[in-house]
Amino acid sequence: MAECQFKNIVILTGAGISAESGIATFRDKNGLWENHDVMEVASPDGFRRDPELVYRFYNERRKQLLSKEVTPNPAHEALARLEKEFQGKMTIITQNVDDLHERGGSQNVLHMHGELLKIRCQRTRKVFEEKGTINSQSICECCNLEGTLRPHIVWFGEVPMFMDKIENLLREADLFVSIGTSGQVYPASMFVQMAKLENDCVTIEANLEKTQISWNFDKSLLGKAGDIVPGLVDKILAGEL
Ligand code: OAD
Repeated sequence: MAECQFKNIVILTGAGISAESGIATFRDKNGLWENHDVMEVASPDGFRRDPELVYRFYNERRKQLLSKEVTPNPAHEALARLEKEFQGKMTIITQNVDDLHERGGSQNVLHMHGELLKIRCQRTRKVFEEKGTINSQSICECCNLEGTLRPHIVWFGEVPMFMDKIENLLREADLFVSIGTSGQVYPASMFVQMAKLENDCVTIEANLEKTQISWNFDKSLLGKAGDIVPGLVDKILAGEL
């Protein structure tokens, strides 16, 4: 059997990898996210206009994520297996705010758009774990004030997390795989080009359908992530890509 030829693998994931786990994607239903305009519930302006709506929205998402129906699917599990069996360095950069990669067994995960199970104090930027609900009357543990807590989510117009680290990872990558993302949101939509800038990086997209950035990839695999990713991981590990 051939050996895996890669040393630095970067995997980018989006909402499509969690779709088979029962979490709705963002842009499949006329731009509505769980019946809301994305800008209403995922922008600083939306939060200023109607904080209770935004608190309620993320409280519901958190409850859904923790319900027993939502579990990691074979795509999450296959990526955890890759991390375990691959001899080089592998990082998952996810745009998803769920914790399904971690629950699937992955350890090296960067949540560039934040995490649903965390909240943050707007005064001190201190981050707390949260599995329940918050609202504008919730009192922050660090400053003892009402109304300073917010979801630890990167909203439109805000800077994604870990960007310096991500740029370095992409510079080093010799395999870049993008799974279940529409490629419509900057800067993640540019990662494939950044990966190819300095290296002879192999680039693969796995998605239900072609995206507006498919043309940037060496190869596009079409289908459900849960069907495609386990086989793709087998091929990477066997050096058969
Ligand atoms: P999108 O909803 O824009 O795209 C999801 C992609 O997954 C689409 O291209 C679908 O065709 C594909 N898809 C759906 N089901 C799939 C399956 N079972 N297997 C494989 N692919 C499937 O979601 P993202 O690209 O993740 O940001 O959106 C990026 C960001 O936009 C999100 O992180 C979020 C949103 O605004 C914030 O909340 C900050």
